[in-house]
Amino acid sequence: MEINPAFANIQRPNLAPKIPSVIIVGGGIAGMILALALEKSKLSYEIFERASEVKALGSALYFNASTAALFKQLGIYEDMRNISKDATCIQMANEQREVEYKMDFKGQLEMFGSTGYIVARPMLYDILRSKVPSERFHMNKKILSLQQGGNGALIRCSDGSTIEGDIIVGADGAYSAVRQNMYAQLKKNKKLPASDDVDLPFSTVCLVGQTRPLNPEEYPNLKLEDCQFMQTLGDKKPYSWTYFTTKQSTIAWMVILFLDDTTRQEHDPSRNSEWGPEAANAMCEKVRHFPIITGSERPWTLGDLIDNTPKELISKVLLEEKVFDTWYSGRAVLIGDACHKLNPAGGAGANNAIHDAVALANRLQALPDQPSVEDIEKAFKLYKKERLPKVKEAYNSSVALKYLVEQNMKGALMRHMSKNMPMWLNRKMLIRMISYQPQLSYVDLVPNEGTVRPAHQQSLADAMKKAKKDKLKQERAEAKAKALSAKGPSP
Ligand SMILES: Cc1cc2nc3c(=O)[nH]c(=O)nc-3n(C[C@H](O)[C@H](O)[C@H](O)COP(=O)(O)OP(=O)(O)OC[C@H]3O[C@@H](n4cnc5c(N)ncnc54)[C@H](O)[C@@H]3O)c2cc1C
Ligand SMILES: *[C@@H]1O[C@H](CO)[C@@H](O)[C@H](O)[C@H]1NC(C)=O
Ligand SMILES: *[C@@H]1O[C@H](CO)[C@@H](O)[C@H](O)[C@H]1NC(C)=O
Ligand SMILES: *[C@@H]1O[C@H](CO)[C@@H](O)[C@H](O)[C@H]1NC(C)=O
Repeated sequence: MEINPAFANIQRPNLAPKIPSVIIVGGGIAGMILALALEKSKLSYEIFERASEVKALGSALYFNASTAALFKQLGIYEDMRNISKDATCIQMANEQREVEYKMDFKGQLEMFGSTGYIVARPMLYDILRSKVPSERFHMNKKILSLQQGGNGALIRCSDGSTIEGDIIVGADGAYSAVRQNMYAQLKKNKKLPASDDVDLPFSTVCLVGQTRPLNPEEYPNLKLEDCQFMQTLGDKKPYSWTYFTTKQSTIAWMVILFLDDTTRQEHDPSRNSEWGPEAANAMCEKVRHFPIITGSERPWTLGDLIDNTPKELISKVLLEEKVFDTWYSGRAVLIGDACHKLNPAGGAGANNAIHDAVALANRLQALPDQPSVEDIEKAFKLYKKERLPKVKEAYNSSVALKYLVEQNMKGALMRHMSKNMPMWLNRKMLIRMISYQPQLSYVDLVPNEGTVRPAHQQSLADAMKKAKKDKLKQERAEAKAKALSAKGPSP
């Protein structure tokens, strides 16, 4: 890689350190999982989050079997399962409070050794936070810019502080500052592809929240062992709404509005994907009479859920959708929503952010000592090569699942297909989506407990090959040293 001369003026006291240090920007799911993965590696790292406290925002996340092996390696699987409910199907409902059909994911347990499950987002954060040493986690650190050169990299925070390191990971979400800085620099050098030089496209907005614990006597579905994952399609209105029961007897809910040309203009993001409380309030008023199924005689509506949700925990967010083409440049690399924003209809955003962290951690662990910028870029290139095809697949299936609840011909066709999906096709689909179950190369591997063999994972194979080679080399060197000393001192 050539270094822009205006850029290469970062002086560091020494040559590149033997083991590189990693700066993680963003303490969301992607950043936190990477931190946990690096905690077990030979690399040093620090993580920087702009928020001053962890917001208990959002509702719940669906995890499928594709992240189970990693969670076991990181020692958080049992914790996760302890706070989650199994989610084995999505029930598709209508406005008459009838379940029309179910989309079944039950096969997961037998095929992949773990079922799908729902975790309340705030509790997930608590688990992750408790595993990252506090001296490595820096809050109140908003990153504004970054610089990099042959000798190292540096980030600048809004409080005026600067932090040096060897590798910068942008895990800072859809409006990533690392990405914007990286792209601005590439654009200046005429190296940014046109596809990445556009605003984030969006076609939906959503309202999310989670109720306080409810009384199961009033809401009998809460008594059911499994998560009730219910999706309702609006009758001649551009809305769909989804809610799930959690282990904590709360209901996590989400309302999606499909935009048309007029409503799209009203929702111009002007560089921010989150609105204030007034916008959320206005949307709450529009949707509160929508019917929901609770298992009780009383006809509940979304309004009942809204009224049982603390106001400050309701948010309205824009749902952008894009897979970026540029994922790295020099010493900086992107993971999670920073490089691919998927529609939540697929429930794939967090799963894929986590897979990114695993593939990247394996590549970083396999870096040679005192890596050059070229070594680092090569590792990033291989990381992207492993992840991009998977991410594109997830993007496609998220789009398909979004159509499923849309009020048009395409939606009707998708619904017909999913309603009548034969078992073998369902199986095939699950295998395609879930058999990639990446693991860390440098932690004891978790044996497969399912009937389907996990898909090949290039970063794991490469890192294990390198570790084997390194070990052989070391053994040879030791044997040689031993042979030399056995000969005694030379005359
Ligand atoms: C309504 C909704 C429902 C969803 N449901 C699911 C689901 O069921 N299953 C699933 O797999 N996915 C789901 N997703 C997607 C999932 O939430 C995201 O894909 C995932 O959170 C991405 O994680 P991330 O760490 O990449 O980004 P984020 O979670 O956005 O985290 C980025 C972090 O970086 C911080 N940050 C940003 N800028 C800076 C800066 N300049 N300096 C320092 N820090 C900064 C932010 O404060 C934030 O903490 C859903 C998303 C939405 C909106
Ligand atoms: C499981 O959760 C309960 C509370 O819901 C807690 O008391 C218990 O310690 C947890 N167990 C584990 C293994 O985390
Ligand atoms: C995703 O969908 C697009 C358009 O339908 C198609 O061209 C592409 O091959 C698909 N990609 C994957 C990885 O499935
Ligand atoms: C499961 O997770 C993968 C991430 O590997 C995602 O692409 C997929 O859409 C998810 N599928 C289901 C059914 O949960």
